[in-house]
Amino acid sequence: MSEAKRLAGEKAIEFVEDGGIVGVGTGSTVAFFIDALARIRHRIAGAVSSSEQSTQRLRSHGIEVLELNDTGPLALYVDGADECDPRKCLIKGGGAALTREKIIAEASAKFVCIIDPSKRVEVLGRFPLPVEVIPMARSLVARELVRLTGGQPVWREGVVTDNGNWVLDVHGLAIREPEAMETAINQVPGVVSVGLFAHRPADVVIVGGEPPIVL
Ligand code: 5RP
Repeated sequence: MSEAKRLAGEKAIEFVEDGGIVGVGTGSTVAFFIDALARIRHRIAGAVSSSEQSTQRLRSHGIEVLELNDTGPLALYVDGADECDPRKCLIKGGGAALTREKIIAEASAKFVCIIDPSKRVEVLGRFPLPVEVIPMARSLVARELVRLTGGQPVWREGVVTDNGNWVLDVHGLAIREPEAMETAINQVPGVVSVGLFAHRPADVVIVGGEPPIVL
């Protein structure tokens, strides 16, 4: 699958505009995008990063990392996903960067999602749904997630997000109404964000392959 990820990441370079600031997601597919971005770094003004991991990789290539508060809205955000449905709704957060990813997606005019073919699904939920929580609310949120979703939350023990929080992964879901589930989970006190990107889905999906498919 890593070849498919590379092909998707490299194809996304076609969406980068000269002189622009690029929102950059997190993960192994995005790593290929960052490496390709490095080759045209003289054509961009910098990047806004969704994680410490991506920040390090961007800086190692000499790409300036800017603060979203300083840049204002972005024209383009490029990120991977754990699952993508036919409406381009996503599950994200396998790399625990979901909150910053969601913020940058919201701030961006165009969200280009780069995936390998294994990420395409008819119904979201085979991949456990990540939920970032304030640590003291972990068990409260877990009980509410059982009640709201019928799934089984599992604490991703040992993982602390870049925001100092914890992650619950909800197993056993078949998410037929992603917008409603995203809204419901967002209402639970202690939830920082949920890795369902339904209210703000991707605008473009690039499925890596020979040739890549642009949806
Ligand atoms: C990180 C994410 C990633 O985009 C997602 O986990 C996909 O990762 P990869 O490209 O390594 O398969 O949401 O929080």
